[in-house]
Amino acid sequence: MKGIVLAGGNGTRLHPLTLATSKQLLPIYDKPMIYYPISVLMLAHIRDILIISTPDTLPSLQALLGDGSHLGVNFSYVPQPEPRGIAEAFLLGDAHIDGDPCALVLGDNLFHGAGFPDLLRRAREELDGCVMFGYPVSDPERYGIGELDAEGRLISIEEKPALPRSDQAITGLYFYDKQVVDIAREQRPSARGELEITDVNRVYLEQGKANLVPLGRGFTWLDAGTHQSLLEASQYVQILERRQGVRVACLEEIALRMGFIDADACYRRGTEMSQSVYGRYVMDIARSLA
Ligand code: TTP
Repeated sequence: MKGIVLAGGNGTRLHPLTLATSKQLLPIYDKPMIYYPISVLMLAHIRDILIISTPDTLPSLQALLGDGSHLGVNFSYVPQPEPRGIAEAFLLGDAHIDGDPCALVLGDNLFHGAGFPDLLRRAREELDGCVMFGYPVSDPERYGIGELDAEGRLISIEEKPALPRSDQAITGLYFYDKQVVDIAREQRPSARGELEITDVNRVYLEQGKANLVPLGRGFTWLDAGTHQSLLEASQYVQILERRQGVRVACLEEIALRMGFIDADACYRRGTEMSQSVYGRYVMDIARSLA
């Protein structure tokens, strides 16, 4: 399975923070925002990861992430000249996907919760059509919303409904089978000129092959698209890391635990950042798992 992180967009809701840099390079507490969605793909055991961003931002992302060899993964990069919609990722990523199933994660989404790796493994192993993840929100009119029947089957998807039929927001993580590029290619841009992910998901729904997995209350899903949510995301990560002494979305730790790199490689990487608490954590983890 291939992975895509969609990390373009204008980040207009974060102005002036994003006038001269990209949203996905801003910090969520101790690491750049894009580490969080990358960690999700790595936890799903996806090692071929395409990063899509604006032509201006790609060089910085490449300087940050390189070719991925230090994490035992492959990062490749493709520009999205204009933010023409989330589903454009499949057209831009056609050569990368190369007929395989594909997971897409948005560059400003943070997922955290017990049992998440298992959930990801199941979604991947049992994939037949598409799998989305739902999260209960108090303001469903702001999101794409999925409605489940009593048996937990997805029966409707609505984009920013005025009269929401459920409180299950569809989060920015999607698993698709091999059809996804062809389905995305068949879509027409919406009134706002974007290829909408909701239109792609609706095709799967019509095929009876769209699934929504509710993430449940014990789980955290944040998108860091506004000043408020950006700060809240940092506070969330800070509290968790300080209280528990573990790190959220530490890519080196995940790479080591998933068996993508060995303890020596992990330790070496930590030494490159040894002046920071993050770097020392990477060294400690490498020592304790050696
Ligand atoms: P949004 O938050 O919808 O858009 P944005 O990031 O441009 O922010 P704003 O609304 O403040 O202008 O996008 C969600 C994620 O998807 C974000 O990581 C950017 C990414 N994205 C793209 O990379 N390309 C696109 O065409 C779109 C629509 C989004």
